[in-house]
Order: sequence, then structure tokens, then C-alpha cells
Amino acid sequence: RHVAHKHPMLSLANTYSIAEIEDFARRADKLLDMDFSYCCELKFDGTAICLTYVDGKLSRALTRGDGEVGDDVTENVLRISNIPKTLEGDYPHEFEIRGEVLMPYEAFDKLNKEREDAEEAPFANPRNAASGSLKLLNPEEVARRGLWCTLYHIPAQSIEFATHDQALNAARRWGLPVSDERRLCRNIEEIEQYISYWDEHRKFLPYATDGIVIKINELQAQRELRSTAKSPRWAVAFKFQAERALSKVLLIDYQVGR
Ligand code: IVH
Repeated sequence: RHVAHKHPMLSLANTYSIAEIEDFARRADKLLDMDFSYCCELKFDGTAICLTYVDGKLSRALTRGDGEVGDDVTENVLRISNIPKTLEGDYPHEFEIRGEVLMPYEAFDKLNKEREDAEEAPFANPRNAASGSLKLLNPEEVARRGLWCTLYHIPAQSIEFATHDQALNAARRWGLPVSDERRLCRNIEEIEQYISYWDEHRKFLPYATDGIVIKINELQAQRELRSTAKSPRWAVAFKFQAERALSKVLLIDYQVGR
């Protein structure tokens, strides 16, 4: 069930302040001799997935794994209702597209309630529930879990477009689920506006997000910037401040080991 990724699945460098985003933009500007813009997206808090379509048919779905080798979860992904099994329109002969499998809060609450009723351990959060569900051996059980997918990256080597935004628009035309919440930004002020809008409005989304992702939109610029071993130089994540909660210690249970 282990399969090597055609292009490694990298992670993103995290930032926590506008100053760090300015550093990211300055570094990119120094390395590039072209004008560029940014595509801002939500950072979906689920589990990464890589889909391959051949002749318009979903032929394989791999988890991220260690980034180099993933798990084949095709049978389970075929049971996720918003992932098309066949495409429409002018799709290329073969391409890869990556995104996130999520468990919306409603499905998560329902699943945990069932688990508690059956005296099984509940999942700690929707992200664990989504990745746990993809690993299930029974695809019919996966179908019942109400998973949902959103796609956000076509590896640049896969097909030629001028911009990331155009690639996602094309994916949408082929029938693939692509988020409507992305915005093109020309400067840091626009990125800042996008962040403050979503820091508030994400509370009304039906699924979990933990930040935003800022990607340089021009694929030529992405190619020039390339990636380090761990993450691309053309994108960065901005993490929202985690919500704080107050917990009261009710009991401390001492145990003596060997
Ligand atoms: S782009 C090469 N876009 O965040 C970069 N990732 O630490 C490809 N994620 O593994 C990733 N939302 O699972 C991208 N809009 C988004 C994302 C996103 C969530 C996850 C993804 C990735 C991790 C990065």
C-alpha cells in the first residue's frame, strides 16, 4: 500500500506575524527580477491528499506519508462525496492535484457521539478524525463519515499555466472542488486585510482552519524560487493565534511504575 510520490509533498514554513510575511516578500523580491502577486487561501486543518487523474478518471489517491512515500487510499477517497470520479471539459491526459480531506464539525460531532455511545475513544479533533477515517479498511464506513475535500495545488510540473489562480480555475471547470475563499493580493496591506477578515469569519465556517497560506501567484516566479528540502520558497503559512481555553485541574492521579 506504500507508493512513492512523483513530486515530494512538502510542508510550509510557518509565520506568526506580519513582519515575518514582510520578510518572506522581501526575500522573494530579492531573488526575482519580475513583478509578482500573491494568492491568499485558507489553511485547511485536515489531512493532505494527492489525487491523480488519468483520462478524466480518478486513478489514485495517496496520503502525504513522510512526504516521499504515501499510503494508497484510493478505495476510501472514491467514497468522499464531493470528489469527482470522472471529470468534464478540457482536462489534460494525466495530472496530479493536491488538497486536504476534512471532517466538517457536524460530521465530527456525530461521529464522536456514536463512538462515546459505543464506549470507544472519541477523536481529539476533526483533523485526527479525518486522517483516521482515511486509514479505515472498510470503504463503506468511510462513506458514512461525511468527509469532505478541497483542492489547492497542482504541482507546477504537472501542467502549464501562467498562474496558480488560473490552474485552480481550470480545475474548477473540470469539476474539481476548489475553494471560493481565495483572493489575489498585490501587496502586504491586502494580505493583512485578508488575514484579519478570516481571523474573524473562520468562526462561521463549517470546518476547521488554522491559518492562511500566501502563495506567489505567477508560476514562472514559483519555478525560479524553487524549494528547500522542506518547503517551497514561493509560499508561506500564517498561523492564527490558537484559541485559549481555561481548564481546571480536578484530580491528580499518582501511579508508581516499576
Ligand atoms: S499548499 C508545496 N495550500 O498545510 C505546498 N497547503 O504545512 C503545498 N494546507 O501539507 C501545500 N491548506 O496539508 C497548501 N491552501 C493550502 C493549504 C495547505 C492546508 C496544509 C497541507 C500542507 C500543510 C503545510
